[in-house]
Amino acid sequence: PKDVGILAMDIYFPPACVHQEALEAHDGASKGKYTIGLGQDCMAYCSEVEDVISMSLTVVASLLKKYNIDPKQIGRLEVGSETVIDKSKSIKTWLMHIFEESGNTDIEGVDSSNACYGGTAALLNCVNWVETLLIHWPILCNYYDQVYAEGPARPTGGAAAIAMLIGPNAPISFESKYRASHMAHVYDFYKPDLASEYPVVDGKLSQTCYLMALDSCYRQYCTKYEKIVGEQFSISDAEYCVFHSPYNKLVQKSFARLYFNDFMRNCSTVDNDAKEKLQPFANLTSEESYQSRDLEKASQQVAKHLYDIKVQPSTLLPKQIGNMYTASLYAALASVIYNKHDSLDGQRILMFSYGSGLTSTMFSLRLHDGQHPFSLMNIASVLDVTTKLESRHVTSPEKFIETLKLMEHRYGAKDFETSKDTSLLPPGTFYLTKVDSMYRRFYEKK
Ligand code: ACO
Repeated sequence: PKDVGILAMDIYFPPACVHQEALEAHDGASKGKYTIGLGQDCMAYCSEVEDVISMSLTVVASLLKKYNIDPKQIGRLEVGSETVIDKSKSIKTWLMHIFEESGNTDIEGVDSSNACYGGTAALLNCVNWVETLLIHWPILCNYYDQVYAEGPARPTGGAAAIAMLIGPNAPISFESKYRASHMAHVYDFYKPDLASEYPVVDGKLSQTCYLMALDSCYRQYCTKYEKIVGEQFSISDAEYCVFHSPYNKLVQKSFARLYFNDFMRNCSTVDNDAKEKLQPFANLTSEESYQSRDLEKASQQVAKHLYDIKVQPSTLLPKQIGNMYTASLYAALASVIYNKHDSLDGQRILMFSYGSGLTSTMFSLRLHDGQHPFSLMNIASVLDVTTKLESRHVTSPEKFIETLKLMEHRYGAKDFETSKDTSLLPPGTFYLTKVDSMYRRFYEKK
């Protein structure tokens, strides 16, 4: 099969959100810390009637409907998630509800998880499946809802679900031969307490691990590219760079880091002014380079004009929703498609996926206009990002915290009914109604 990749995509995020500016004031953080310091505008969160399963049901049902896909055509369903509702029963099995109705139970795949990387692992499974054994198309559902305990990490939560249809002749196709990964054992962010939804996180370490993984993947990506194409690769060979986005500041630092890599690799595309400004850092050891605030500032400054062109279009959803974990990288990709769909034909997008613990992969995508319904134009129209963002309901920080408290209490609980309050949910949205005494969960569709 040719041009295997993403044929269709849709995103769902909860209608409730909190402004970072209000949260900042509520938490007693200095003014600008969450908005400028972390670079975030808004954070979406689930109310007590929504969870990983309801959002996944909503987005998969919506994908099938909006692209008019026959559920019988689906041969694989993969889910990438970091939220554990059940240590044995995968989220995928709940989604079978949608396919069983059509009589199709012949669907391979279960859940993949490793922090924010589960979505990429699931996506690569789907791509490999189509590349090697095209039977029926796979669907991938990436979901995440992340909440943090009180403290500095709390403003970096978020929630969304993305569904993608994978197949041949796709408008967003994989350049699989250049794919590069970096995997290692570290304790930067993990969830050892099975009774709690909150992670244990070493924020500073996670930032350094992210940048080290980025460097390693980029170096290997470039080596593979250069071996196959016979020319040096630099960021100028990709029209857009899309990063896993825990918060926007890290994305700014990441792009600057790629630029610094190009400088160190002596790329002709780095201009003289930048060379002059980065020269003082050329002899730093790699360890020193991660700690140098001056390098961080200088590289961000020289990369700023390119950041505005190559990265900024991907930041729309991540800045408005927050860290969507397994869905974060793909919401950033969706932002580029939404913002630039009419000028992407023939272009390349470089993607970086990171999951703490740690697992990471860099890969690239080739864009083609495609043919309806699997065209960039139709994907942008289905995503309908502006309408979805504008119809959200902004709540107070107090309401957000009250909801988190209730969810803490409900996490792992049984024998309760939800309020079934669906007033904020758009029609077609699935919601949780109750969990019975056997921990069985029940959902309805609005
Ligand atoms: N105005 C403008 N900027 C400000 C202000 C202000 N009033 N106050 C602080 N800042 C800046 C800081 O200078 C810093 O920016 P810099 O890094 O460019 O210098 C930024 O705001 C953050 O402030 P810090 O004090 O450095 O960080 P904090 O202790 O608040 O923690 C962190 C931030 C580590 C990101 C925390 O939110 C966290 O642990 N999040 C979860 C972990 C995470 O997302 N890791 C990323 C990869 S792993 C993953 O995806 C889970």
